[in-house]
Amino acid sequence: GTVALAFSGGLDTTVCVPLLKEEYGYDDVIGVTVDVGQPDSEFAEAHETADALGVEHYVVDAKAEFAEACFGAVKANATYQGYPLGTALARPVIAEAILGVAEEQGCTALAHGCTGKGNDQLRFEAVWRASDMDVCAPVRELGLTREWEIDYAAEKGLPVEAGNDGEWSIDTNLWSRSVEGGDLEDPGYVPPEDIYDWTDAPTGETETVDIEFEAGVPVAVDGNEMEPVHLIEYLNDLAGGYGVGRTDLMEDRMLGLKVRENYEHPAATTLLAAHEALEGLVLTKDERDFKQQVDQQWAQKAYEGLADHPLVSALDAFVDETQQQVTGTVTVKFEGGQARPVARESEHAVYSADAASFDTETVNGIEQEDATGVAKYHGFQSRLANASKPELTTD
Ligand code: ARG
Ligand code: SIN
Repeated sequence: GTVALAFSGGLDTTVCVPLLKEEYGYDDVIGVTVDVGQPDSEFAEAHETADALGVEHYVVDAKAEFAEACFGAVKANATYQGYPLGTALARPVIAEAILGVAEEQGCTALAHGCTGKGNDQLRFEAVWRASDMDVCAPVRELGLTREWEIDYAAEKGLPVEAGNDGEWSIDTNLWSRSVEGGDLEDPGYVPPEDIYDWTDAPTGETETVDIEFEAGVPVAVDGNEMEPVHLIEYLNDLAGGYGVGRTDLMEDRMLGLKVRENYEHPAATTLLAAHEALEGLVLTKDERDFKQQVDQQWAQKAYEGLADHPLVSALDAFVDETQQQVTGTVTVKFEGGQARPVARESEHAVYSADAASFDTETVNGIEQEDATGVAKYHGFQSRLANASKPELTTD
């Protein structure tokens, strides 16, 4: 049979190719790379490595679907421990695309090169195990270490470029760039500036942009309508120049491990800040309070890679209902590495200039003095409770 391997051309997926034949007994391996916005160099590298391995290589463009998933995350203000979930949101999209190729090519199995310590194994397999295909995870199942892989690659003469086993393990897509491993594993180690590729160190320069939303989804920047993929790329470039969107955190992985992670995500930070600012203008306090809980649950499921969980559909129904109001424009200022909303406007604003102003007397027939009764009652129950408390005895 033939197995479809999630293929990046890195060390892990490269050693998987001979192992899937030798240890798992597959006649053929096909490599599938899914485009979710990695730099072009990664596809060239994957293609060359596949060629050298004699593996048929497929590239699937899933950027548009992935951008849609990212905008779903914007509607839910989704972050996990401060990280906007780029890797997590991409995995179900990648897994589906690989499954599609595997079905077209008559494969009987799917394989990935994830370790048994991470989240990605769980996210891939959550999608794949819903199909009839067999699932192979050689790195995990054969207990491989990086050192073993390097020796094995050398012994077999596998095409492992210097770039394939660089200092850090990097995962890039439209929504975020993650850098982990090597000396960064030490929580006490201060990362050098060169781990960053998308963001410049913040300077004193500032700039403002207008971001327009329609039903919770960004549609234009500074009056220019843009397709989702382009809009994200545009803001990554622009906000990245001001050092926006760096996160350095201890991440609690699904298996319970704490891992030091570094991320860059200029567009995500900008869009999430702008979206939340617009919600502040158009949603009631009660909707915002409840939505915070919904958003938190949504982000948790996104982190787990369980986009098809029934809870997610139910949460989406609530989110989409609220997003009907979330149309308008937010002005964001890039300043000191921050993306700070500085103005917002919407035709759905739950805001009355007259009601909030100190300069007007009567609004909707309500006068200032009408609050006197409310003020008398405010704290009433506390006063009752405090009056009936036993006195403290001191001696
Ligand atoms: N820990 C992050 C997540 O689970 C990202 C891991 C990305 N992988 C990498 N090799 N940098 O979403
Ligand atoms: C891995 O362990 O294979 C990568 C990191 C992760 O999945 O979280």
